[in-house]
Amino acid sequence: MKVPFLSFTPQNQAVRTQVLDAMSQVFDSQWYVLGEAVKQFEAEYARFSTTTECIGVANGLDALHLALKALEVKEGDEVIVPSNTYIATWLAISFVGATPIPVEPNPTTYNLDPALLEAAITPRTRAIMPVHLYGQACEMGAIMEIAQRHNLYVIEDNAQSQGAAYAGGITGSFGHLNATSFYPGKNLGALGDAGAVTTNDAELAKKVRTLRNYGSQQKYYNEVIGHNSRLDELQAAVLSAKLPKLMEWTGQRQEVAALYNEQLAGIPDLHLPAVAPGATHVYHLYVVRTSQRDELQKYLTEQGIGTLIHYPIPPHLQEAYRFMNFKAGDFPIAEELATTCLSLPMWPGMTPEHVTQVSSHIRTFLRR
Ligand SMILES: Cc1ncc(COP(=O)(O)O)c(C=O)c1O
Repeated sequence: MKVPFLSFTPQNQAVRTQVLDAMSQVFDSQWYVLGEAVKQFEAEYARFSTTTECIGVANGLDALHLALKALEVKEGDEVIVPSNTYIATWLAISFVGATPIPVEPNPTTYNLDPALLEAAITPRTRAIMPVHLYGQACEMGAIMEIAQRHNLYVIEDNAQSQGAAYAGGITGSFGHLNATSFYPGKNLGALGDAGAVTTNDAELAKKVRTLRNYGSQQKYYNEVIGHNSRLDELQAAVLSAKLPKLMEWTGQRQEVAALYNEQLAGIPDLHLPAVAPGATHVYHLYVVRTSQRDELQKYLTEQGIGTLIHYPIPPHLQEAYRFMNFKAGDFPIAEELATTCLSLPMWPGMTPEHVTQVSSHIRTFLRR
């Protein structure tokens, strides 16, 4: 039996009628940009996020960028960011002319290590961008406390962790402004690019709302140099149709993870995901680590098991950031992760048989 890295089939079957109905309603409405569907989804996603505001934007990268812009982070400023995130978090900082200051993750949870944060703060630091990586909430209590003490903004990158929580608070509700992505493979995925900013600050929400729409609140009156980064009506309608299922799908991801944890326990040279006390994990990805990563991936591919690497090159070693003069060895935990991590198949609707198939191939390979 083949097991793909990701299949949309069970999700799509569960919401096929609702999604197609929602799309035809938009089609019939004859209003395709910033209409009722966006307004409705923004209200629903704000409620889900326990925030007062949600601003739908074109994608997760724009959500991060517009958040930094609304906070007036600019050239000469420093922004603390994980050394092991997807490059989008760094790119948003670069877009506003600020400098990403990488901080290493906790080597077992892969999330920003609060114990290392303070050493990275300088008089130029303006913001911290915790990334809830792979689906696990960061230790937001300690991060918010440090940010408050140093008068810094917090912008959560919640692209991978919709519905995760830390100490009972939901991700995307802690920071001054928070960004998420509804890229199709995300836990809440659109049928194309989409993203959102969430916040409890009405003034900041107004700024993001203005920035996403040509710097304009009133048609043809432009207050600031803005962007065209609006959530599509069609994508908003699709997201509204899928949102009621999100926590059910999250539960299914958590069941798959629990089964992997059980079946992969005790295998030599295989590290399983660890969850920090107080945090929940919504398993956007189920990431294991082994020193034989490349060989294991090749073997699994031969057995029809799909896997991916998140991510093979950390941002500081990317060609795009060569100008910052980082070198190999500067962020050893991020570098170690990049050479050892492997994301196993993970999607709502995966069956116990799928998990057993993947696990038994891994056991066979690592035990031989
Ligand atoms: C951690 C993280 N941040 C930001 C993004 C950017 O989102 P998007 O692809 O919607 O621009 C992604 C996903 O691609 C991501 O995984």
